[in-house]
Amino acid sequence: MAFDTHMRRGHPIVFSLIMFFSIIELAISAWLTSRFNAHNNYFSLDERDRTRFLLFTSIWTVVFSGLYMFFFFSLPDTVMASVASHIFFLFITWVFWTAGAASITATLGGGLNCTTQNVFVYCGQLNALEGFAWVIWLLVTFAIFVVLIRGILAARRGDGMRGPLIA
Ligand SMILES: *[C@@H]1O[C@H](CO)[C@@H](O)[C@H](O)[C@H]1NC(C)=O
Repeated sequence: MAFDTHMRRGHPIVFSLIMFFSIIELAISAWLTSRFNAHNNYFSLDERDRTRFLLFTSIWTVVFSGLYMFFFFSLPDTVMASVASHIFFLFITWVFWTAGAASITATLGGGLNCTTQNVFVYCGQLNALEGFAWVIWLLVTFAIFVVLIRGILAARRGDGMRGPLIA
């Protein structure tokens, strides 16, 4: 079935991209967090806490995307690699990125113009933090959408949500 072929190829591509951008986001948020801890030069507590939350979300996403790639390839018939398990993981991750990306965007008032603003230190890094958060949000949104379609097809065929991603 064509959908399975796309799933077999698409899963590692999409999960690798999510991991790749999460590692970048992890690096930026870890760097900012260490600066804020060392110099207390955040503009507001919101800015500091939301950066920390993005650090947590990046670590969460790197660890679990790696695990899910492992489940998908090495343990495809187990409950961990099932449609339901993917929906569970992707939904929690989607909530984290929605909260993280939206809240840092609100803190920065959209995006910063680094030539005119003089409120935030690390202007370029903060814009990158926001930008990559939305990139990851888009990828996770796409992934959950595809897995949901797979779940609906599987349910129609009678496999149910506990079945594997690939029939
Ligand atoms: C940022 O502000 C400068 C100076 O007002 C302006 O020339 C530039 O176009 C602005 N950049 C963006 C992306 O809005």
